[in-house]
Amino acid sequence: MRAPQLLLLLLAFGRSQAARNTTFPEGFLFGAATAAYQVEGAWNTSGQCLQPLPLWLMLQYRECIAGKGEHIWDRMVHTRPNCIADRTSGDVAADSYHKYKEDVKLLKDVGFNFYRFSISWARILPKGDVSVINKDGIDYYNNLINELLANNIQPVVTMYHWDLPQHLQDLGGLVGSAFGDYFEDYARVLYTNFGDRVKWWLTFNEPGTFVDGYTSHGCVPPAVDAPGVGDYLVAHSILKAHARAYRLYDREFRSEQKGNISIALSAGYGTPKTNSNADIEATETFMQHSLGWFAHPIYSQEGDYPAVMKERVANNSKAEGLFRSRLPEFGEYWVNYIRGTADFFGLNYYSSWVVSHVGSSLDRASRWSDMDVMSSQDPGWTVSVATWLAYTPFGMRGLLSWVSKNYNNTPILITENGWADTGEINDTMRAKYYVNNLAHLLDAIYLDNVTVLGHTAWSIIDNFEWAQGYTQRFGLHHIDFNDPQRPRTPKESARVFAALIKNRKLPENYLDKVIE
Ligand code: NOJ
Repeated sequence: MRAPQLLLLLLAFGRSQAARNTTFPEGFLFGAATAAYQVEGAWNTSGQCLQPLPLWLMLQYRECIAGKGEHIWDRMVHTRPNCIADRTSGDVAADSYHKYKEDVKLLKDVGFNFYRFSISWARILPKGDVSVINKDGIDYYNNLINELLANNIQPVVTMYHWDLPQHLQDLGGLVGSAFGDYFEDYARVLYTNFGDRVKWWLTFNEPGTFVDGYTSHGCVPPAVDAPGVGDYLVAHSILKAHARAYRLYDREFRSEQKGNISIALSAGYGTPKTNSNADIEATETFMQHSLGWFAHPIYSQEGDYPAVMKERVANNSKAEGLFRSRLPEFGEYWVNYIRGTADFFGLNYYSSWVVSHVGSSLDRASRWSDMDVMSSQDPGWTVSVATWLAYTPFGMRGLLSWVSKNYNNTPILITENGWADTGEINDTMRAKYYVNNLAHLLDAIYLDNVTVLGHTAWSIIDNFEWAQGYTQRFGLHHIDFNDPQRPRTPKESARVFAALIKNRKLPENYLDKVIE
């Protein structure tokens, strides 16, 4: 056991389980999430144009008749099937495109207050730009939103959950010079069509994860091999595009629609391996390079990338003989433009890491070698079927407190949290994961004065877990992906959630006796 954890444990002994407040404060919101490509299916369903087009235009824009456009994940699963662990795809997935009413019923049965889902950019704008608007796509999301509201469930909408229209990829993708224009136009289509009813928006989901599409020829599209360069360029472009969508809302929609906009950032919680200064500093560097990379430009008082990150990448770039830093510079205009572009903090938390200092590595340049740290798992932790996901509920409190301290007690919405297994219906480990993550979330509220708006479970249903296909399941409801009907079956975790939402209190039987 590491020193800081030992300290936590000792502190925890000081108070009995009964002393811990396990009741949810008034107004605390519970939700569950999915993402378009992981659940919808109907990958190439046909559709109609929004406005009837003259015949000569119809001939030019045949995609308009074709309905949903192809996106980068469609392209990858169809051209590189070996990339997916079980050689499956999201072509049909959970078929939520046809079964959305059933999904809303599941949300309702558990008692969730909101549903976080994403819009498939290529379903409503098949080419990514606004030259073609697929009416059936707009109808689908209108129907889903209306069904949710009819059941008293708030929609929380992610604009981009990794599924870039292939046509935009061909035009330069996330680093193309026109990407910000395309994203702003897309955001305008969303506010115009759905903003009367959607009051919670997230621009991008986990940019810190999808930048990996620019670090190797691996299985994250578009699979460009440029570590320590491409990932920094993508992040730069995403931060600007996020701010443009936010500023557009401010200028033209906020006064009437009165919604909230943020971005969903993910972070592992870093805990130092020893209490040496080197490891403590390494842990802070790790947090700044992974979460601060996106959060500091938006939420800090001064804006821009964290100082430690700018300095390290600039020094390394110089040592590599480059003429400029691999980390691009914003300049004053963009620093000011991006700073303050969020109404709350969207945070995805799953797992923690033990962090230690390593001397300058001779590795090929990458954002990891720029940090000079090593992150690993404590051998004592229980690890899920997803090797990156360990049972570390203490990290929920640690991360919430870190964010709150670094960013001026901004209200935080946990936008994802979940546990992977192979699909057991009696998923007691998932129930334990949620109950104890929520216990630490409540500790952050009651003991550290963090403002937490709510919690989102990933996911309401089993779904297509990207390169892992259907081999890793996160759902509160099981789906039989071999059955064309895609039947949904509640798991133990759905029952535990239903009870804790109803009682607004954590069940004793799943609570760990001591805090790790
Ligand atoms: C993060 C992503 O947002 C989501 O798409 C993914 O399925 C979960 N984490 C689990 O890996």
